[in-house]
Amino acid sequence: MEKIGILTGGGDCPGLNPVIRAVVRKALSEGFEVVGIKDGWKGLIKQDTIALDLNAVSGILPKGGTILGTSRTNPYKKPEDVQVVKDNFKKMGLSALIAVGGEDTLGVASKLIKDGLTNIVGVPKTIDNDLSATDYTFGFDTAINIAMECIDRLHTTAESHHRVLVAELMGRHAGWIALEAGIAGGADVVLIPELPIDMDEVCSVLKKRHSRGKSFSIVVVAEGAQFKEGTMVLQEQKLDSFGHVRLGGIGEILAQEIEKRTGFETRVSILGHIQRGGSPTAFDRILGTRLGVKAVELVKNKKFGRMVALQGIKIVDVPLEDAVKALKTVDMELYEVAKVFFG
Ligand code: F6P
Repeated sequence: MEKIGILTGGGDCPGLNPVIRAVVRKALSEGFEVVGIKDGWKGLIKQDTIALDLNAVSGILPKGGTILGTSRTNPYKKPEDVQVVKDNFKKMGLSALIAVGGEDTLGVASKLIKDGLTNIVGVPKTIDNDLSATDYTFGFDTAINIAMECIDRLHTTAESHHRVLVAELMGRHAGWIALEAGIAGGADVVLIPELPIDMDEVCSVLKKRHSRGKSFSIVVVAEGAQFKEGTMVLQEQKLDSFGHVRLGGIGEILAQEIEKRTGFETRVSILGHIQRGGSPTAFDRILGTRLGVKAVELVKNKKFGRMVALQGIKIVDVPLEDAVKALKTVDMELYEVAKVFFG
């Protein structure tokens, strides 16, 4: 019986368990065996696995996170690990690997394919929605719904106390979460990494709003947004284990600056990992399920080196390397829509 391995890498994300469940259900029905590789690429380096049968995936559809665990392990950090991954793939008797992840995990998958480990299929995942070649990644819809609800709640205090409330959202170097949650939550200003922050403009929008009688405002800022002067705000100087900067903290600086320049009492809320937690929305469950089923179809048809993707309303497959070539930043037409409601 041919054996498929599946791993989930990078930040956890609502929708991963629906993918795992779909892969197992579809693969078993097609006569494959499935093994779960724990904690992303780390599990392939350490041969740390669990058998995935019908029982193992029963009841996981509504659960957030990933039953396989995850890590930001990059086998390309130590050249010897790349060979270990290739050797273990053979030792474990795998005929194919389904790698579920964002730009890091799929970037590793793409390199491994070029380095001779060809039998890989990618599944795009990230709350940031910044992967190219797919219109949406699962996890994003859940994240923006959580963020929208938080913005709704911030309105209560903002209005009662006549304050400006700044909500700092995730998204790394793309503004998708801030922009879509900002539109859905009725933000009065949305600041994203794609456009430098102009403090004069932000304050004039807020002052204009207050001068027409509104005594509160909501400002949504993406963690990766930068001031015109161009400095990125970091949580700490240390890089994460994949080698990325850890963003966070711009909301605080922004809030202080708004209060100083306008005199409006201002507070900040940093949503952080709350955006990534909890049960996936129906959209993310369905998207994860469709992508998982399609990934197994690709394995069955030996269409390796491909990534499953959502384009329009169809699930398609695209070259894996297309997904990681360039960051998918926000659609400026959508930003123009958000701007109609500024101030
Ligand atoms: O990529 C998803 C994401 O949540 C980003 O939005 C955020 O910058 C980062 O991961 C946080 O990473 P960690 O969970 O390692 O702190």
